[in-house]
Amino acid sequence: MVRERVKNRNFRNVFLVPYPSTRAEAGIQLPFNNPQPLEVDIGCGRGRFLLARARINPGINFLGIDRSLLRLQKIDSKALASGLNNIRLVNTDALRYLPDMPPASVSTIYVFFPDPWPKRRHHSKRLISMAFTELVFQTLVPAGTIHLCTDHAEYFDAMLRCWNASKQFRPVAPFLPTEEEETDFALLFKAQNLPTHRCSYQKREPCNESVKGSGARRDRPVHDNPEVGS
Ligand SMILES: C[S@@+](CC[C@H](N)C(=O)[O-])C[C@H]1O[C@@H](n2cnc3c(N)ncnc32)[C@H](O)[C@@H]1O
Repeated sequence: MVRERVKNRNFRNVFLVPYPSTRAEAGIQLPFNNPQPLEVDIGCGRGRFLLARARINPGINFLGIDRSLLRLQKIDSKALASGLNNIRLVNTDALRYLPDMPPASVSTIYVFFPDPWPKRRHHSKRLISMAFTELVFQTLVPAGTIHLCTDHAEYFDAMLRCWNASKQFRPVAPFLPTEEEETDFALLFKAQNLPTHRCSYQKREPCNESVKGSGARRDRPVHDNPEVGS
C-alpha cells in the first residue's frame, strides 16, 4: 500500500473497506450485501464523479479504488454528509485488487485521467496495458463496459491500440458525463481549454460477433476540444 502522511486523523472511514496487504488466496467478497449492479471507478481521485454517480443512481453500487488514502478519506466524509449508502472505497492498487474480485461481477468500469507517465522509460508504470485489458475482461459481466478518458494524446493512442488489439472488446459510444458528473481533472482541463479524449469498449459475448464492423461514427472515440479532430 502506498505510504502517505495523513494530516487529519478525524476521518471516520465509514465507507472504506479493509483490503489485506497480501493477496487473498480465495479472492475477496464484494463489500455490498445487496444484488444491485456494481460500477467501479479506478483512480477515483477526489471523487467528484463517484459521488455524483452514486447520488444520481441509488439502485447501483459504486466502488472507488485509489492508491491515495487521503483522497479516499475525503470522499468518505462527503459520502457520509450526503447520506449515501451505495458507495464503498478501497485504498489499494487496482492492479492488485481486480484479480481478487469475483469474476464477471462488475457492470461498468471507469478509468478517468489515469496518470500518463509521459516519459518513455516510465511507460511500464501505466495502468492501461494488454494485461489490464485481460483483467478487465475477467472482471466485467457479459456485455459490461469500460469508459476511459485522458488529456494525454499519446497515452490515448496507446490506449486505443490496446483495446483495439484485444479481440475481447468492441468499441461503443464514448461516455459523455453531465456537468455534475465531470471529474475534478476534467474540470481542470476544461478551465484551461485543453483537449480531452474519450473512448469506451464493451466486453464481447460470443453471440454478439454480428456487431463486429458496425463501424458507425458514434462508436468512435471523441475529443472534447473539436480542434484536435477525430
Ligand atoms: C490524475 S488522478 C485522476 C483522478 C480522477 N479520476 C479525476 O479524473 O479527477 C489519478 C488518480 O489515480 C490514482 N491511481 C493511479 N494509479 C492507480 C492504481 N494503479 N490503482 C489505483 N489508483 C491509482 C492516483 O492516486 C490518483 O488519485
